Amino acid sequence: MKKLFIAAFFILTGLLANAQKRITEDNASEKISISKGLFKQGDDMTWAEPGMDDSSWDEIDVTKCWDQQGFPAYYNSYAWYRIHVKIPKSNTDQQNVIIVKIPKVDDVDECYMNGRLIGSSGSMPSSADGYATGVFAPERYYEAGIKETCIRLGEDNVIAIRAYNRGGSGGMCEDSVHVYFPPAVDGISLRLNDISTGQHHCNVEIVNKYATMTKGELEITLTDRETGAVVKSLSKKVTVKRGKPAVVPVYYDSDKMCNLTATYTDTKFGKVITETKQLKYILTPPDPAAPRFNGAPVFGVRPGSPVIYRFPVSGERPMKITCSDLPEGLDLTENDGVLSGRIVQAGNYTFTVTAENANGKATQEFTLKVGDDMIGQTPPMGWNSWNCWGLTISQEKVIASAQALIDKGLADHGYNYINIDDGWEADVRNPDGSIEANEKFPSMKGLIDWLHDRGLKFGIYSGPGETTCGGYLASLGYEKKDAEKYNEWGVDYLKYDWCSYENERHKNNDWGFSSCIRPYLLMQQFLRQQPRDIFYSLGPLGGTQVHLWGLYCDGNSWRTAPDIEDTWEAVYSVGFRLQEGKSQYSSVGHWNDPDMLVVGKVGWGRGELRETRLTPDEQYTHITLWTLLASNMLIGCDIAKMDDFTLNLLCNNEVNAINQDMLGKQADLVLKDGDIEVWSRPLADGSIAVGIFNVGEKDHLVDLKTYIPSESPAKAVRDVWRQKDLTPDELVCTIPLHGCRYLKVTF
Ligand code: GLA
Repeated sequence: MKKLFIAAFFILTGLLANAQKRITEDNASEKISISKGLFKQGDDMTWAEPGMDDSSWDEIDVTKCWDQQGFPAYYNSYAWYRIHVKIPKSNTDQQNVIIVKIPKVDDVDECYMNGRLIGSSGSMPSSADGYATGVFAPERYYEAGIKETCIRLGEDNVIAIRAYNRGGSGGMCEDSVHVYFPPAVDGISLRLNDISTGQHHCNVEIVNKYATMTKGELEITLTDRETGAVVKSLSKKVTVKRGKPAVVPVYYDSDKMCNLTATYTDTKFGKVITETKQLKYILTPPDPAAPRFNGAPVFGVRPGSPVIYRFPVSGERPMKITCSDLPEGLDLTENDGVLSGRIVQAGNYTFTVTAENANGKATQEFTLKVGDDMIGQTPPMGWNSWNCWGLTISQEKVIASAQALIDKGLADHGYNYINIDDGWEADVRNPDGSIEANEKFPSMKGLIDWLHDRGLKFGIYSGPGETTCGGYLASLGYEKKDAEKYNEWGVDYLKYDWCSYENERHKNNDWGFSSCIRPYLLMQQFLRQQPRDIFYSLGPLGGTQVHLWGLYCDGNSWRTAPDIEDTWEAVYSVGFRLQEGKSQYSSVGHWNDPDMLVVGKVGWGRGELRETRLTPDEQYTHITLWTLLASNMLIGCDIAKMDDFTLNLLCNNEVNAINQDMLGKQADLVLKDGDIEVWSRPLADGSIAVGIFNVGEKDHLVDLKTYIPSESPAKAVRDVWRQKDLTPDELVCTIPLHGCRYLKVTF
């Protein structure tokens, strides 16, 4: 009876929606809007089937979360919705697909049309990849093929939504479910695929995802952003078939700052689609062929701990790296410059290292500082798996990035930590309580030995609570065992993340600073008992407060912001706003960490890796700011897929030298003039580094010299990205929106 009533209700709702919500733009079909469905908590895959008997299910309003309708909140499990809908025949020429738009789902969902999966957001705990939240896409547009999903036009069809919730409210909320036929031209999209490897070019791709072939005209313009001149323009007639993108490559000079605009005009509908993209541009000059030392001339180690240090030297290979006055207890490999050994006696050990190849010779006077509080002399540089692989990290992926770190020359520029984040842990501990890696890491010891052999260091991830942020085993109650295991494996870095420790504070109703410090200090005591150095990186608590107490638990770095994303909003909030006034908490060996880098191909393990959403200008700003902030420089992308542009961002020796400056002073915001922010830090050689940023939404013409925060006349103003001293004329320039200029000023 109830079912009959609901079916009638849907048909009526559909008809009403047809009458009221006529979509006029773009030739779209009428939309059916549905706000009521059937609901059941639990999980059974047969509930996706159109023919199953759902007459005993409860009625639910899909525009409100289930806990707002009498179903239990904090129901941390699966629930299903079933929506019966009569789909009328379309009045358009587009009959091969329909769109099912479902509202925000808290927090993971799979959507089935007549029993066929048509889309999902996030990933279910039961899936191979494990649980990953889907809250990032507020609305979900799923496409169902009419034939593939056996849609019966004019009859009852079933949309079944499997939802999973962890924490707080659950289920669909904030809008109705909509079903409609898209117009043919909606299947057309433009993709601008900028390829900065080999001969730089941008592929303009016109893609048609629907069945109807369309024809149109493509116009492309390439504009120089500095001069406004049109560098190239072309126009082409194109036919776009389903599954066969029309591709037009546009070649450009990567030393120019250009915008590419592509406009497609559809012949039949007259619809115009335009996309503009800022193209990648390279500012960093190529490395010279002769050897050049790119690292700070210092490394710190505790007395008796193994030394693992790879000299970062660029230049053509083969190269010989040698030292005639190497202190006793140390060893240096000639072909790749790996320093190893141990020194028991505290003190400063200075020696000269020489690098030589067919093109020349370079030397570096280097000091190994041996002492109790000597590790982390400069902010750590390396890679972390999280921003690209999320919980899908595996040994194979780690090796691929580590090998690429060497092959692509990043190790020659000082990147030397290879850190895995969450997702490596086995489900259960060994009978003796020790932690184990899961099946994705067949040999943790083998992996770490492999890295150490190449002079790279290895970082691992855990937390003081029962579970990590990704729901894996963490260290609560097993801190000593875990520290011992890290030593046995050869771990050099621990990221210790707050996550579920919050539950312990709830349990004990203990909210003071001491409740934060206690678990972190506990782990550090056990780490310190191990006969090796483990850089101690503290995760975020409540977003931004760790810097207030990180030093009391002997941390080497601490997060000063919540998780970053690859958007301007995130870089602006995490990098600019949340770092203001924090330089006082940073010192040599104890760094503020505004989170990992979001340049290159990222993805957090959610589907395919994708190009960062930051524009090239924003990426220059990101790296400029992070180096000024004396931040950890942990690359967050897949290095194996890194292109020339990203390498140019990460391997500028003058830019990196500011991050690694031995004075270790983090920059402060020293001036704000409308949209322009000036951040500056003093450097060990008496000069200052100055970042001049445009954080506004339009370009600004500026005179850089008015933003140099010093009374003394400058002897030289150097553009560190371009690695050249600027003439007085060149100081007047345009800083594009979200862009910056990076200067080193000597007096
Ligand atoms: C937190 C951290 C991230 C990452 C994840 C892993 O969100 O801030 O950097 O380590 O946990 O689950």
